[in-house]
Amino acid sequence: MRGYLVGILVLLKHCICGDDVNFDGDIKDFVVGKSKLFVLTDHRLHQMRLDLSEEKRKDINNATHQNRVNILMPFDDNDTLITCGTFRDGYCEVLDLNDITNSIYYESGISVGPRQNTKSVAFIAGPSTSRYLLVGKKDDEKPPYPVVTLWNTLQSQFSGIFNYIEAGAHPSIQSTASDVEFVDGFQRVSPSESYLFLNAKIDSESKVLVLRMSSSKDKKTEIFKSLQAATIQCCNDKARPVLVASTVIPSVNGVIWAGVFSAQNQTDPENTALALYDISTVRGRVKGFCTAGERPCGSESGRALQPLSVVFKYSSMSSVAAVRKGSWIVMFIGTSDGQLIKLILDEKFTPGCSTVLYKSDDERAVLPRMHFDPIDFKHIYIALRRELRRVSVVQCVKFSSLKDCRAALDPLCGWCVKAQRCSTQDECSNTSWVSIPKNSLQTQLLSFQMEQNSSRKITLHLSLSLESTGNPVFSCSFTTGSVNLCDGSDPTAVFPNCFCSFSDQQLYTGGLTVSAAVTIEDQKITETLTLRNCSSITDNSPNASYTQCVQCISSGCQWSSSSQRCDWTHGPGLQLHIQKPNDACKHLLSQSVYKEPEILSLEPNKVSFHGRNNVLLKGKNLESVTKIRIRGDLDCIPKESPVFDRSSDTLRFHIPPSGTKGTVKVCVVTPDDRCHGNSIITYSSQPSCTGIQPGVSWRRGGRKIHIQGSNMESVESVIVRPSNKVLQTHYSRSSGDIWFHSPHYDGSDLFSLSFEVGNSTVDCMDYLSYKPDPEFSGFTTVQVATDLQVNIQKKADKLNLSMSDVNVTGYQGDRQYQCVLEKIESNAVICKITGQSDVATLDVSLNPYLSWITSTLPQKSSFLRFITFWFIFTFVNLLYVLVCLIYIFLILQAGTLAAVMVRDIGQVRCCSIFSCI
Ligand SMILES: *[C@@H]1O[C@H](CO)[C@@H](O)[C@H](O)[C@H]1NC(C)=O
Ligand SMILES: *[C@@H]1O[C@H](CO)[C@@H](O)[C@H](O)[C@H]1NC(C)=O
Ligand SMILES: *[C@@H]1O[C@H](CO)[C@@H](O)[C@H](O)[C@H]1NC(C)=O
Ligand SMILES: *[C@@H]1O[C@H](CO)[C@@H](O)[C@H](O)[C@H]1NC(C)=O
Ligand SMILES: *[C@@H]1O[C@H](CO)[C@@H](O)[C@H](O)[C@H]1NC(C)=O
Ligand SMILES: *[C@@H]1O[C@H](CO)[C@@H](O)[C@H](O)[C@H]1NC(C)=O
Ligand SMILES: *[C@@H]1O[C@H](CO)[C@@H](O)[C@H](O)[C@H]1NC(C)=O
Repeated sequence: MRGYLVGILVLLKHCICGDDVNFDGDIKDFVVGKSKLFVLTDHRLHQMRLDLSEEKRKDINNATHQNRVNILMPFDDNDTLITCGTFRDGYCEVLDLNDITNSIYYESGISVGPRQNTKSVAFIAGPSTSRYLLVGKKDDEKPPYPVVTLWNTLQSQFSGIFNYIEAGAHPSIQSTASDVEFVDGFQRVSPSESYLFLNAKIDSESKVLVLRMSSSKDKKTEIFKSLQAATIQCCNDKARPVLVASTVIPSVNGVIWAGVFSAQNQTDPENTALALYDISTVRGRVKGFCTAGERPCGSESGRALQPLSVVFKYSSMSSVAAVRKGSWIVMFIGTSDGQLIKLILDEKFTPGCSTVLYKSDDERAVLPRMHFDPIDFKHIYIALRRELRRVSVVQCVKFSSLKDCRAALDPLCGWCVKAQRCSTQDECSNTSWVSIPKNSLQTQLLSFQMEQNSSRKITLHLSLSLESTGNPVFSCSFTTGSVNLCDGSDPTAVFPNCFCSFSDQQLYTGGLTVSAAVTIEDQKITETLTLRNCSSITDNSPNASYTQCVQCISSGCQWSSSSQRCDWTHGPGLQLHIQKPNDACKHLLSQSVYKEPEILSLEPNKVSFHGRNNVLLKGKNLESVTKIRIRGDLDCIPKESPVFDRSSDTLRFHIPPSGTKGTVKVCVVTPDDRCHGNSIITYSSQPSCTGIQPGVSWRRGGRKIHIQGSNMESVESVIVRPSNKVLQTHYSRSSGDIWFHSPHYDGSDLFSLSFEVGNSTVDCMDYLSYKPDPEFSGFTTVQVATDLQVNIQKKADKLNLSMSDVNVTGYQGDRQYQCVLEKIESNAVICKITGQSDVATLDVSLNPYLSWITSTLPQKSSFLRFITFWFIFTFVNLLYVLVCLIYIFLILQAGTLAAVMVRDIGQVRCCSIFSCI
């Protein structure tokens, strides 16, 4: 019952606070001061608690009071929040940090922040005895113009608060650069130094610069005189000359700083790179930046900074933050497509696995500023347009065993032995907390090695790649079948290692399968070890030394690089925490025994996140390919796909579904586990249809039905329900539509359509109906100048025939003429045959030729023809009448003859169309 109540309370707490809050305008900036958040939108400044509930708000802009706040700076030591804005000629205001509606000081007529809506940087700098507000900004003035100034924060300072002059001088850092954009800056406490990071355009070249000043001096001029500057370069693969966001990484040695650099190419999947630098070494000057009065303004000296490590590349990183846990660094990366990514780095700045902590449904960029919860550092605040979101940086609870907790490779998570759960260290006091050691990125959880000592004894050493606070209860056991492997008593176990001895005789009869079980309190880790006689490991495969090496190391033996053979380890050579066998033997892979495969193209190379079947890969030397490996920037474990329909230059494979959108890299794997090629496939949203055109088919089927929508190229086929017929679809690159031929159907029901996308189906919210086949009953022709206009009679129908549905061909003798369609009316089809005056028959077919109705129609006389015909007819009749008259005359002339004729001919009557005699 109590647990139940606690559950409800926890739930209630969540319901009330929520993890996000939406403002009535876009978030322009937000800062953290003394356990509060201050969020700036166009119209208001909000004072929020860390749980995102609002405490106070202050209007800053309305119709009568046009204002844009351009400085928002918590001054914790003074318990105030400094804001400056553009109202009238500019102003600054000191607000009570605990109640922003309480204004402590207001001064108008000063322009501290940028007048235009450009990026700027502001922070508190200077020694504890004289704090200044350092502002880096660009205003449109003639060069050299001041870009960095120091403003008093206290009345007691020379000439009072919000002044930057000093003893009659106007100290500043000046610039002659044609463009300057401040991105970030901070003051380091000990030694007291200020750093500023900016983008500048000097001699029409874009550069990223760092300015460094010693801020331990009291006087502003002294601080500016200590200016050092350098260019920051990124990266070796391509130039990325624009800084997007940055963060300083808490470090003991040096000042490690991480910047997100952009190549300004939205279509490049590696447009942005996250690179780390040691900025404590900034020495020298750059052109275009100097202390006020210096001429010429700055000349190049010193060296450009090169990255210590480039740890991540992605299409669109927009923000970055970092925390440190022991020797580990945990980076948090916001992206322009609305994701928050977590990336760990070891002490050598080697990146581990990245995971997505948060993904927005839509594609809103994460604001460059992100802040940690200042109390526990377990949450990070991110801003997405109008939304402020509090995201947990740890997800330890997801892992329910020690093994899973270790496999997550998250330095913030460890196994809390007493509580029997994966948790952060602070949630696990007074008990052992088992976490990942420094070298975890290179090691497996469990490794073992055999040692041979002279008395024909083997010692089996086993080691876990784990470290722990306190001394967890720890034990091991080794069994073969149901028999204990070890001589004598239980194996010796001292966390995280254990060992046991056995007679080497057991190995000479072939491999020995040992089941190893390690227990840490209630957690059991088991593994099957295959032990072998080290001196007998040989292999006849073509890549002998590599496969031998892998086999050697995975059997617990030692690979000797000098003699290229496998051997026992003797005493001092023991290397526990050995590398993964594949890594340890990697150097032996150089001698390839096959022609290196190459990928030339992938068709298609854009798929939906449901994946795609039967992707065609074209390339060279594909015979040796065993499988396809697909790896996303955000995937720790690459996906693999088998290949089929393989030849030396083509093969097919299925692309598995993906949890994330974005690009992945595809390479082909050879038997030695190497992966060749680096082609790109883009995962996009699933297809969605917006309309069917036409929405009706004739019963005989075969009508070309177009489906419009987005991401239609990822549709593999269409299913017509309820009949469940699967129909082949065709994608039209020019229109972005797909089309298919309607199936035959004799009823008049409505059919719904679904798409087959990978192995999923996506419904289209539109219907296809059936109507009787069209009927063409005859045609007439009219000569129009040199052309023949053909009017085909058609029964009125609801098929909505379009010009592309109908194809008319005229025949005259053995010649055929294309009748070019002009118009389709409800009961006629009108077309024209150029340069022709006559056709005998017409062939009306419904496109395309899949299924067509051919109507060879009897010719119907046109008016002209009718007249001609009528004339001929009349002429024949007149002739007939003449003959009759002669006949009658003859009768009158010779009565007997006529009588005989009448008698002989009997029924013969003399007729014309006018009369019968
Ligand atoms: C506009 O904002 C200013 C400053 O917040 C305030 O003093 C003034 O009363 C506001 N005017 C109106 C019409 O709301
Ligand atoms: C904070 O700044 C204000 C304005 O200059 C000043 O009046 C006040 O004394 C300062 N308080 C502290 C604690 O420094
Ligand atoms: C942008 O990146 C794409 C993809 O890498 C590349 O094909 C293109 O040439 C780049 N454009 C420019 C202007 O560098
Ligand atoms: C941990 O131990 C300390 C001293 O031994 C004690 O004061 C504290 O309450 C303990 N905490 C927990 C969570 O048991
Ligand atoms: C061989 O190893 C076993 C177990 O560690 C040990 O008892 C024995 O004394 C060792 N023999 C020699 C000669 O080192
Ligand atoms: C679809 O399912 C088949 C059979 O289970 C599987 O082989 C194939 O990889 C799957 N395709 C996709 C795109 O997931
Ligand atoms: C129309 O039919 C004729 C004769 O069958 C054929 O040659 C022609 O390609 C067809 N035109 C279209 C647009 O289908």
